[in-house]
Amino acid sequence: MGGPNEMKAKFPAMDKGTKEDWEIISGHFKPFASKVADRVLEHLKILDGDFGGFPVDRLQHSLQTATRAHRDGQPDDYVVMALLHDIGDTLGTYNHPDIAAAILKPFVSEKLHWITEKHGIFQGYYFFHHLGQDRDMREAFRGHEHFEDCAEFCEKYDQTAFDASYESAPLEFFEPIVRKVFERPINSIYASVGSE
Ligand SMILES: [Fe+2]
Ligand SMILES: [Fe+2]
Repeated sequence: MGGPNEMKAKFPAMDKGTKEDWEIISGHFKPFASKVADRVLEHLKILDGDFGGFPVDRLQHSLQTATRAHRDGQPDDYVVMALLHDIGDTLGTYNHPDIAAAILKPFVSEKLHWITEKHGIFQGYYFFHHLGQDRDMREAFRGHEHFEDCAEFCEKYDQTAFDASYESAPLEFFEPIVRKVFERPINSIYASVGSE
């Protein structure tokens, strides 16, 4: 984070920036980036106690989705996706899947990113008809290479994760897996910043 005496870039606008300025900034990026998993885990805790009328709060729903995926033998990156799929509810109230998809994008496969981004529409199969909407909205994606994977995520892990009597693993159980998946971006224009 740094205090007032730390080395800082001197430009008033980026078009006056120098190589030295950017060496200072790059030097800060790596330690900051290395803490992204901690920031994500902290943000997840905001969902604690947030029921929104559901039988379980949003943190428990997230833990239950991830626990079900884990117990079903899904790999770590999938489990982390399951844990974070609704993390956008607080800030992306009208587009929550986009938030989780954007956070995960540098660290997961294109398939897992697609599942995250589209899960809202696919999950709608289980309730849109109760709200006067088209439960088959997902049919617009029928034939897409990840259609069945997204349908499976919702069917097996997401729409089932509202059982108040289910014994989910605690958030601490997932912390090492989250740290591992967020350790190294596989897909980011900033991936090389701060490396030699
Ligand atoms: Fe969702
Ligand atoms: Fe969900």
